[in-house]
Amino acid sequence: MKRALISDIHANLEALTAVLADIRAQNISEIFCLGDIVGYGPNPCECLDQVIRNAKVTILGNHDQAALFDPDGFNPVALQAVYWTREQLEASGEPNSINKRWDFLGELPRTHSDGLSLYVHGSAREPTNEYVFPEDVYNQRKMDALFNRIDRYCFQGHTHIPGVFTTDREFLSPEEINNQYRLGTDSIMVNVGSVGQPRDNDSRACYVIQEDDLITFRRVSYDVDVTSEKIYAINDLDNMLGDRLKSGR
Ligand SMILES: [Fe+2]
Repeated sequence: MKRALISDIHANLEALTAVLADIRAQNISEIFCLGDIVGYGPNPCECLDQVIRNAKVTILGNHDQAALFDPDGFNPVALQAVYWTREQLEASGEPNSINKRWDFLGELPRTHSDGLSLYVHGSAREPTNEYVFPEDVYNQRKMDALFNRIDRYCFQGHTHIPGVFTTDREFLSPEEINNQYRLGTDSIMVNVGSVGQPRDNDSRACYVIQEDDLITFRRVSYDVDVTSEKIYAINDLDNMLGDRLKSGR
């Protein structure tokens, strides 16, 4: 079994295109997308079309949900991006493709299980909305509650910070483990990072390859300036959303 796990594309077509090419170059045909295809970025429709075409399994993210229903707890910048995204989804292309995208979003599941692996956007406890940050390893109660809901392995996104959470209250960043982690009999949570808006001070797109018991974190360069310039040219997308792509924060 060899599978690519992508998450948090956030309507960044340049990042997604580079990641899909990297996946193809390694002869991986199975792609799971862990949500947040849209939101923040300039190409929601194009990214949705790519995910519909290429992903075998897609999970609902909080920004995908926000395109469908008005969200709670979004800051003004994110909310403005939601409304702009909705406008694009309502107006871009033939009625057929518009309906296809809405139907796809409306039918996305919140979790997917395969053997010992669980796939969610946020966490095993609150699949769409809960954040599990590296510093949460110091919150024993939260860690226990999360690990209690996992058979063995949980793959998630949402924070845009890649790494592995172990039951020994450790967070291992990809650099610390040389981008690889071997699955064993202990439970773990793996954050697969973000394709379209990394927040770990590395502007390159991030995704994970799951091959049998080996997890590999991949970083892929793309032309960040192209995406940033698109964001700067759209009034309803705050310039900060373009700036943060360059710094990876
Ligand atoms: Fe996200």
